[in-house]
Amino acid sequence: MRTKVVAGNWKMNKTIGEATALTTELLLLYQAEVKNNAQVILCVPFPFLGATSTQVKGSPLKVGAQNCSEHESGAYTGEVSAGMLKSLEIPFVILGHSERRQYFGEHGALLAKKIDSALAHGLVPIFCCGEPLEIREKGTHEALVKQQVQEALFHLSAEIVTKIVIAYEPVWAIGTGKTATTQQAQDMHAVIRKELAAKYGNNVAQIIPILYGGSVKPDNARELFACPDVDGGLVGGASLKARDFIEIIKGAG
Ligand code: PGA
Repeated sequence: MRTKVVAGNWKMNKTIGEATALTTELLLLYQAEVKNNAQVILCVPFPFLGATSTQVKGSPLKVGAQNCSEHESGAYTGEVSAGMLKSLEIPFVILGHSERRQYFGEHGALLAKKIDSALAHGLVPIFCCGEPLEIREKGTHEALVKQQVQEALFHLSAEIVTKIVIAYEPVWAIGTGKTATTQQAQDMHAVIRKELAAKYGNNVAQIIPILYGGSVKPDNARELFACPDVDGGLVGGASLKARDFIEIIKGAG
């Protein structure tokens, strides 16, 4: 059975003081209330990675970054490499989030390179895919998501692809309060898993966690995470409030 994963994506929110306070509260609530063994990941802004890692050390919580460069090192002002993240002992990195795709033009070949760089440094990429509203309305969402997965991941060997976490995030559900129905989520997760099985075989496809993202909240998390192909969630807004995030984590067990 796949372990459930609940990742919080803080995006570009909070100051260091607020981040420290949120993590402190999360750790207290986690220790007091969470009984399941879901893998919890806090994907915090770059400047907080060191401090948050120090805070969660010795607890089951892990830290992730929200992006990394495709380059190893060099004259790329403002960028952060996978090697730098590794040197901070950061185990996870979100890649291909729809906001990176939309505002920073990150797509197929570039994302494949970022995935390679993360994997080369032993980081686990949380690779995001998902369709915008107009594609959903046109009915071509399955084709687009399959293409996103193929472009970024299908150059990997069967052995390496098992190190990836996938997050399906329909763009129309991100930050909108409009969650995909459990049926919509399960259907798309099954499509993604079938696509992985067609390329890598069913054994490999069964190992890869596929998270749902897009307005996951305390009151819908349990139902979403109970779908057979939904292995947890990537949570934006609700991960910024300790009580909400803890309730979502509790929904994973
Ligand atoms: P949301 O964001 O939970 O605020 O919809 C999810 C995400 O963008 O990862």
